[in-house]
Amino acid sequence: MTKVIAFANNKGGSGKSTTCANVGYALALNGHKVLLLDGDMQLNLSLSFFDEDAVLAMAESEKNLYYAIREQKNLSDYVINTAYDKLDLIPSSTLMSSIEYELFTKWQREFILKKCLSPIIEQGSYDYILIDSPPTLGGWVMNILCASDYLIIPVEASPWGLFGLANMVDFYNEVCNINPDLKLAGLAITKVDERKNYFKQTKETLAGLEDIHVFSSYIRVDSSIEWSQDNSKPVIAYKKSSRSAMEYIALTKEVEEICR
Ligand SMILES: Nc1ncnc2c1ncn2[C@@H]1O[C@H](COP(=O)(O)OP(=O)(O)OP(=O)(O)O)[C@@H](O)[C@H]1O
Ligand SMILES: [Mg+2]
Repeated sequence: MTKVIAFANNKGGSGKSTTCANVGYALALNGHKVLLLDGDMQLNLSLSFFDEDAVLAMAESEKNLYYAIREQKNLSDYVINTAYDKLDLIPSSTLMSSIEYELFTKWQREFILKKCLSPIIEQGSYDYILIDSPPTLGGWVMNILCASDYLIIPVEASPWGLFGLANMVDFYNEVCNINPDLKLAGLAITKVDERKNYFKQTKETLAGLEDIHVFSSYIRVDSSIEWSQDNSKPVIAYKKSSRSAMEYIALTKEVEEICR
C-alpha cells in the first residue's frame, strides 16, 4: 500500500523542502520505492536533486506537475528518475504560482491532485509518495492534503515559527472534514540552535500541545545543508557523516514507524 505524506506549513522557510528531500532520500536508502512531488513554484525540491539548468528546463517543458494538474493528466506519465536508486521525482514549474486560478473553475476542485495520482497509487509501484507544499494555505495545499494519508509539519524553532503553527493546525482540522483519513504524523523541529535558550522553550511549548505528536529527532542548524543544496544533492548523499545527515536518518526511522 502506497503511503502519501505531505510536508506543509504556511510559515515560509520552516524546512519543508529540505525535510521532504532528505526523508525521501533516506526512505529510498532504506529500500523503499519513493516518488517525490514538487508542489512549489520555488522548485526547491527539484533543485535538491537536479542542477539549475535541468530544473529550469523541466519547468519550461510540459513535463511537470503544474501542466499535469492543469490538464488533469495521469501523473504516471510525468515521473522522472533521479540519479538515485528507488527515488523518482515529478518536478514543478514556476507557473505553479497560478495553480489556484487553474483550480478555481474545476469540478470537485479539492480532489484534482488525488484524481491525477490515483493511477500511480493503483499500480502500487511506490511505497511512499512525498509531497512538498508551498508556504500557503489555499486550494492547492488543500488538494495536497486531500491526496495525502499523513501530514508532517516542519517547524522552525523560532517565535514566528510557532506563531504560524496555529493557522496550520486549524487548516489541517478543516481539511479533515473532507479527507477524514488524513492523519497528522507529527511536528518535525528544524533549524535548531541548541545554544539558544529559545529552543528549550520551543520544545516545551510544542510538548504541551494536546494530541499533537512531536518527533523526538530534531534537525540542528548545519552548514552542510546549504552546501548540499548548492551541489543539488540531499545532505545524506552529499555528506553522510554530517550531523544533519545523521539527524535526518534518525527522523526518517520515526517517520517509518508512524507512517505505516
Ligand atoms: N538544518 C538546517 N541548517 C541550516 N540551514 C537550513 C537547515 N534547514 C534548512 N535550512 C535553510 O533554510 C532555508 C529554508 O529551508 P527550506 O527551503 O527547506 O524551507 P521551506 O519551508 O521549504 O521554505 P519555503 O516556505 O520557502 O518553501 C533554506 O535556505 C535552507 O538552506
Ligand atoms: Mg520549500
